[in-house]
Amino acid sequence: MSVSENITALLSNLTESFNTSTYLKLTLSNKRSKGDDLNNVFVKPVVIKEQAVLSFVFRHETKDVTKNFPLADALDQISGLLSANFFNADLFTSQADYSLLSNKRGHSKLLKKPASSAEIPVFRHDKIKQRLIVTDNNVYLRDLGVLTADWKVKSDMQDKFKQINHYVEIVDDVLKSASLPDNFMVADMGSGKGYLTFALYDHLKKTFNRSFEMTGIELRPGLVDTCNGIAARSGFKTLRFEKGSIVEATLPKVNVLIALHACDTATDEAIFRGIKSGAEVIMVAPCCHKQIRKQMKPENSLKEITRFGILEERQAEMLTDAIRALLLEAYGYRTRVFEFIATEHTPKNVMISAVKKTDRNSPDPEVLKRIAALKTMFGIEFHYLEKLLKQ
Ligand SMILES: C[S@@+](CC[C@H](N)C(=O)[O-])C[C@H]1O[C@@H](n2cnc3c(N)ncnc32)[C@H](O)[C@@H]1O
Repeated sequence: MSVSENITALLSNLTESFNTSTYLKLTLSNKRSKGDDLNNVFVKPVVIKEQAVLSFVFRHETKDVTKNFPLADALDQISGLLSANFFNADLFTSQADYSLLSNKRGHSKLLKKPASSAEIPVFRHDKIKQRLIVTDNNVYLRDLGVLTADWKVKSDMQDKFKQINHYVEIVDDVLKSASLPDNFMVADMGSGKGYLTFALYDHLKKTFNRSFEMTGIELRPGLVDTCNGIAARSGFKTLRFEKGSIVEATLPKVNVLIALHACDTATDEAIFRGIKSGAEVIMVAPCCHKQIRKQMKPENSLKEITRFGILEERQAEMLTDAIRALLLEAYGYRTRVFEFIATEHTPKNVMISAVKKTDRNSPDPEVLKRIAALKTMFGIEFHYLEKLLKQ
């Protein structure tokens, strides 16, 4: 076989060992030119920000230079180095060793020997976070500006991509714990640019063995048109976006209701629609909490908290969401409140997730009493969601 064929075969062994988590190391040696300042290259696996990459140490006469590359770029580097700088390469995997030997006359051979190293590969699957959303040929992420034209996550979109995956993971867990009917309906209230709507649709389409439909409701017509265009280009046949308001949107029965960062009382409207529709799952990440903040006038020691602006704001947030969670419980939902994005990314990082456990026509009076006690303690006249539910 020619040198280039052996290089291709070696790179294919490397790729396979990378993908099967058996890769250990690669060494490039035997310089093509005695005058080359680069003596060797050592390529080891490392995990950076939960991603498996290859770390190159370029050993020069007087210095070492380290650079990290994802697999595709690493293969280009190695191929270039073997064509221009080195005759030999030794690839070590936990399954076998491979030696590429070549010389000036263009002779070359690739030898395979039993594995000589007892090292444990660092690319263990449990160390590397598998992302749920695949980037290759992902039209919606490209059109939303998260990916480059060649399907790579843009450097300034890494956090957004992580958040999208994390969000899908959370919703997926909750949906698995709910009993959803066939042909279930998901409504995303205040869907905005649709990052999360598309990602959830994509994930459910690939992993849920049941038919479903998804509708994004959004006030801004420009966003609705853009999202419908992207849905069509992605071939997402049962995903559509409609211009409308959360309270007035015409929807058939909703089984899963989602509202992420819908402003102030828009979150209450979304929960209200979910409860009234008998949704099996309601998941909301609230935004601002003005309605309760304006009303909080405690006549007791709580005044010591609300006299400081920032603490008043946080207290309003806690109180608003605690009453939302209680109202969901009163209507038969098992409710959890948790942080779903690290605080350094956004302070709006609380999620209320509710899974229906009991069908109730009227709220549990015991829970309503607990809500009333809270309201009295904070001097609150009404909570917007409570008012909607009383209509
Ligand atoms: C902060 S953005 C969040 C978008 C998206 N859910 C996300 O998390 O990426 C809130 C969106 O909700 C929309 N919105 C706010 N109030 C609404 C309402 N009452 N009815 C429909 N959409 C609403 C806004 O136009 C905006 O696009």
